[in-house]
Amino acid sequence: MSAPGPALSHQDTTAAERGPHPVRITLSINGTAHDLDVEPRVSLLDALREHLALTGAKKGCDQGTCGACTVWVEGRRVLACLTLAVACEGREVTTIEGLAPEAEPHPVQRAFVEHDAFQCGYCTPGQIMSAVALLEEGHTTGDAEIKEWMSGNICRCAAYPNIRAAIRAVRDQT
Ligand code: FES
Ligand code: FES
Repeated sequence: MSAPGPALSHQDTTAAERGPHPVRITLSINGTAHDLDVEPRVSLLDALREHLALTGAKKGCDQGTCGACTVWVEGRRVLACLTLAVACEGREVTTIEGLAPEAEPHPVQRAFVEHDAFQCGYCTPGQIMSAVALLEEGHTTGDAEIKEWMSGNICRCAAYPNIRAAIRAVRDQT
């Protein structure tokens, strides 16, 4: 049996309990700069939801497997739960709230409504952020390709056929 290590001093325990110090960062979200104090370990998803009250990006698994937290950084899809907020300083972040004005929804948002592409709606912001990027990337030649490039976005309600129909409809309009 190994010998126990040295006991933590009162000072060490206090420092451990305090945790890492917050750092001041500026995030550009949907074209607006926000100053916030976050611990270096805070994810972009928590910074958006807990610090900035931007709750469009959803927390499903919080471990990179469901896609509910999908946002764009510099126009590319990222999983906000696996991205550190501090790593986004100086880069433009786009969330579902910044996709289009509320009075004038994005064509993909309209297509999701028209094609009944959701039930509970929890996965929908992530699905839409992925779908818009997918259309811009041009990965929409057929159902198999759409399925493959949307495979990071899980829908527990299994609205997949309707989600693909919405994507095809927007593809065919353009
Ligand atoms: S919450 Fe980020 S992938 Fe599930
Ligand atoms: S609509 Fe319910 S999880 Fe996708």
